[in-house]
Amino acid sequence: MKVKVFDTTLRDGEQTPGVSLTPSEKLEIAKHLDDLGVDIIEAGSAITSQGEREAIKLIAKEGLNAEICSFVRALKIDIDAALECDVDSVHLVVPSSDIHIKYKLKKSKEEVLKSAIEAVEYAKQHGLIVELSAEDATRADINFLIELFKKGEEAKADRVCVCDTVGVLTPQKSQELFKIITSKISLPVSVHCHNDFGLAVANTCSAIISGAKQCHVTMNGVGERAGNAALEEVVCALKFLYNIDTNIKLEKLYEVSRVVARLMNLPVPPNKAIVGDNAFAHEAGIHVDGLIKNTQTYEPISPEVVGNRRRIILGKHSGRKALKFKLDLMGIKVNEEELNKIYKKIKELGDLGKYITDHYLLVIVNEVLGKAVEEKIKLEELTVVSGNKITPIASVKLLYPGEKITLIETAYGVGPVDAAINAVRKAISGVADIKLEEYKVNAIGGGTDALVEVVIKLRKGTEIVEVKKSDSDIIRASINAVMEGINLLI
Ligand code: KIV
Ligand code: ZN
Repeated sequence: MKVKVFDTTLRDGEQTPGVSLTPSEKLEIAKHLDDLGVDIIEAGSAITSQGEREAIKLIAKEGLNAEICSFVRALKIDIDAALECDVDSVHLVVPSSDIHIKYKLKKSKEEVLKSAIEAVEYAKQHGLIVELSAEDATRADINFLIELFKKGEEAKADRVCVCDTVGVLTPQKSQELFKIITSKISLPVSVHCHNDFGLAVANTCSAIISGAKQCHVTMNGVGERAGNAALEEVVCALKFLYNIDTNIKLEKLYEVSRVVARLMNLPVPPNKAIVGDNAFAHEAGIHVDGLIKNTQTYEPISPEVVGNRRRIILGKHSGRKALKFKLDLMGIKVNEEELNKIYKKIKELGDLGKYITDHYLLVIVNEVLGKAVEEKIKLEELTVVSGNKITPIASVKLLYPGEKITLIETAYGVGPVDAAINAVRKAISGVADIKLEEYKVNAIGGGTDALVEVVIKLRKGTEIVEVKKSDSDIIRASINAVMEGINLLI
């Protein structure tokens, strides 16, 4: 039997400090989650606001395969708001620990049980699937927890959920708790873990091997405080370490991770498991040597399995074999003498404290091979208009010389740089599908005429290039970097 994935990126994940999504952004993420294969999408909390209801309605009427769910408290007004959005199910949350019942609700346990039963019955009478969740369950009296779930069962709830609201479970306690709950409750039991001590994924896996049938997760582990159990880590740990399947299409993980990162404006840390850019990056000579012989020496799984890719990072510690391996990965053929020359230059740059990006490497290769960097697409004209009370707009004219084609496009943006990059991306959309993965600006110097250094990462399929450009004009630096990246990728 497959473990079900309940994704709460759009509810608990959106509770990440500083994150707020528009309805169309929520819809975009929901479509990607559906495509990824999640079983349930918690689209938000319908009672929260008009905008939130609009987002949940949009998602509910999209006709996705996933069950669409709204968070509700044990209150009729919350359930009515969810019904107005046409969701399939409600995640009905009831505080269960003494701390929450006494200080947050200021009610007795009997009152909590009564309102929970009434809310479950009300939601069921209105045709909803009900998941009854016990908030702060891991600090609750276990007898009360079981009583709450039993009442839920009698009121015809469909599933129950144990929430480790403040992340205090350990893998051992999780096993004990879920063994008890799943032996006493006949409904499917869900697990919802937070990462306050960095144990959310381990605790989720422990719950699953102890009988839980469903896990609550968020993409990239986003969520309140230290976040929730990360979807990509839980499903991969279940699959590769415990041999337990889910419906997730693993090869889409990297792409969906980046969609969420971009729309939430929360970059994925490079060392993030499974989807981080360093998750399959290798620099140490001894590791690269092992990889050349057999990639299993230093990789637990192949990067393509999760849509990520192998990266060989060149620096002053890299050996000739690593360089050759990387050039092969990039499809560049060189002879022994050329290899030695490229290797020497890399060492020199490494000694100057430079990090060898793919772009640098190509410049070196071209220099050694006596080739000019081939400019397949050339920026002919760029106009950007920005100011007070005007939406920034840019127009570009690109030349595709080999094909003698002129590409002209106009685009809006939230700022002038965004407009310019959007116009370039629109113009080349028929030539190549290139995505901007990352954009960073560093100021060099302090005045208004300071040089700015722009660092961009562009992606085409699984290929990623990083380019740095500096200029006193941020728009020029950005567009030059983007143009060079595009030329490297195509
Ligand atoms: O962590 C938690 O307890 C929650 C509930 C409100 C479901 O997110
Ligand atoms: Zn939570």
